[in-house]
Amino acid sequence: MILPIYLYGQPVLRKEAEEIEPGYPNLKQLIADMYETMSQSDGVGLAAPQIGLSKRIVVIDADVLKESFPELAGVKLTLINPELDIIEDGKKVTREEGCLSIPGLSEPVARYEKVRINWLDEDFNEHEQTFEGFLARIIQHECDHLDGILYTDRISPIRKQLIRNKMRNIADGKVNCEYKVKQQKHQKR
Ligand code: NI
Repeated sequence: MILPIYLYGQPVLRKEAEEIEPGYPNLKQLIADMYETMSQSDGVGLAAPQIGLSKRIVVIDADVLKESFPELAGVKLTLINPELDIIEDGKKVTREEGCLSIPGLSEPVARYEKVRINWLDEDFNEHEQTFEGFLARIIQHECDHLDGILYTDRISPIRKQLIRNKMRNIADGKVNCEYKVKQQKHQKR
């Protein structure tokens, strides 16, 4: 089932999400719905707060980026309760980033090039792995969502100032989107 994506301005995007416990009802269906929702909106990552659910689940399907990043062919990841360790002395790389919850914008964001994470898969098996490059960036972006952080929090003050009106329009519901969204009703001001 395709779910509406919550846009910037919705309070759930600013909450710290809760951990998922084993036995969480209909978890597999929820994950399937998240993949379907992400794919119809051409996203490469989606965190549960973006569908209005304040829980620590992330889905990633990076296959569509394989032309620019061949190493991402076939990469699909379901992360439950991910914990992110920045690799010590990690260098940061700046690249353009966007977000399904902030349509029509992309901005350069500095992220660690290499991160180690541990997480549970949908069967609650534990995993630990180090990721690099663009996949490490996607993981950092999505894990930020679980802590109520958006990529626009991580850009320079001058860039923030430059996109302020566009951000306000999104929060006010004055944005058109190709995918199904949940946003404020347009308010006349
Ligand atoms: Ni996002």
